[in-house]
Amino acid sequence: MSTLLDVEDLHVAYGKAEVVHGTSLAVAAGEFVALLGRNGAGKSTTLHAVSGLIAKGGGRVRFDGQDITNASPRDIVRAGLVQVLEGHRVFHPLTVEDNLLIGTYARSKHGDRSKLAAMYDLFPEMAERRHQPASRLSGGQQQILAVAQGIIAEPRLLILDEPSGGLAPLVIDRILDVARRLSRDGVAILLVEQLVEKALAHADRCYLMATGRIVHEGLARDLAGSDILHSAYLGGQAT
Ligand SMILES: Nc1ncnc2c1ncn2[C@@H]1O[C@H](COP(=O)(O)OP(=O)(O)O)[C@@H](O)[C@H]1O
Ligand SMILES: [Mg+2]
Repeated sequence: MSTLLDVEDLHVAYGKAEVVHGTSLAVAAGEFVALLGRNGAGKSTTLHAVSGLIAKGGGRVRFDGQDITNASPRDIVRAGLVQVLEGHRVFHPLTVEDNLLIGTYARSKHGDRSKLAAMYDLFPEMAERRHQPASRLSGGQQQILAVAQGIIAEPRLLILDEPSGGLAPLVIDRILDVARRLSRDGVAILLVEQLVEKALAHADRCYLMATGRIVHEGLARDLAGSDILHSAYLGGQAT
């Protein structure tokens, strides 16, 4: 498989406090990779830096062979790297449909309505609520909308940052099943998720992060239930 995302020796700081200390990770085309670790390990910070949403203190990011280390978030999205942020963020005053159309701006300047039908097929509850403001959706529905907004942008790599976010298990199962299907169709997935067993059940490969460093990398099925996993989540490593 060819490497799609290649992150090399990434450093990220908030002010003077460095919280990501030389992270390297890679995702191949169509691969489903989980990035795991305790709260505060630096997962979201890593993802935000990769997507260009926060500044990098050092390192290099390549996407499909292009150096995107210093590219703008907009150009990164256009290149096909789309991140669904933590905390089901959608535009509350806008309708479900307008939220989806915003997702299509990545590929088309004025929005592309022709992509809506496929999203409504995938997520029928969005079709029923297409004219409602997003603020009227439940937390789970907002999360589905946020994921749909990412998918409709037709990413080559979809980054999902804690899609479960305290929602009902049924919602996360559906989201992970959709992600799995996308990866079978060739869309790479990089998933951060606190529901570790679920993440490992869907992912091909995984990275384990602790205090700003990758401490383990391997096949998801080898990590499930392992001592490494147990100590990373329950051990003495402060976050
Ligand atoms: N905006 C911020 N300003 C300062 N520190 C932050 C900010 N966001 C996160 N941090 C700190 O950076 C570290 C990594 O956080 P984060 O990347 O959110 O971890 P994770 O996503 O793995 O839970 C934590 O110690 C957190 O407190
Ligand atoms: Mg996070």
